[in-house]
Amino acid sequence: MLSADEMKQKAGAHAATLVNNGMTVGLGTGSTANHFIAALAARVKEGLRVNAVPTSVKTKELATQLGISVIEFDDAETIDIAVDGADEISYQLNLIKGGGGAMLQEKMIAHTAKQFIVMGDETKMVVHLGKFPLPVEVVPYGWKQVQRKIEAIGCDKVVLRVRNEKTYITDHQHFILDCHFGEIREPDKLNSKLKSIPGVVETGLFIGLAKKAIICHPDGRIEELDE
Ligand code: A5P
Repeated sequence: MLSADEMKQKAGAHAATLVNNGMTVGLGTGSTANHFIAALAARVKEGLRVNAVPTSVKTKELATQLGISVIEFDDAETIDIAVDGADEISYQLNLIKGGGGAMLQEKMIAHTAKQFIVMGDETKMVVHLGKFPLPVEVVPYGWKQVQRKIEAIGCDKVVLRVRNEKTYITDHQHFILDCHFGEIREPDKLNSKLKSIPGVVETGLFIGLAKKAIICHPDGRIEELDE
């Protein structure tokens, strides 16, 4: 039986085989994405030519260190494929992302890509999203008002994200509220409600964006689920 990290590594390696010469590739953020980036870098060393658009400062650093050519999002005429991990993946390929705090840039790049592929170990698959608290990125100004408004639309608990005893600040200088909704039956409606609150920048709900999921099972079997 493979460990969770071994499953992430296999999913990442499989996803790297889907990248072709000359593509512009969106690089996700997180431990699964890091495995994908390492596998892609190995192909680049063997001669694959790609340009990459990273979804976070951390990913940009890793890709650069590993010798992958990185370009600015605004300079990418097109993104052929974007590949990322997720915190939860439903069987309809809706996602919760943002456990690593990068979902704003991740969503912008996934939305721009011709094809967005999500990877995960089997534990990420869920029937209904929502066990993992939904990250919502907000501007720091008035965040407590936003917290109250999210509670008022039915969220049990809304927690300001703190790391190392300090308020967590995203790459774009925002805060994150981790929202404990429980089972999310209508992710699209919830996403619209949250985005209608002034001060909300983005949510971790990725609806209808992923066209394919690459899932690794504990026995090492790779499954591809298509939308
Ligand atoms: C980063 O902001 C997240 O969206 C990650 O993609 C997500 O948290 C998955 O992370 P792991 O691949 O580390 O599980």
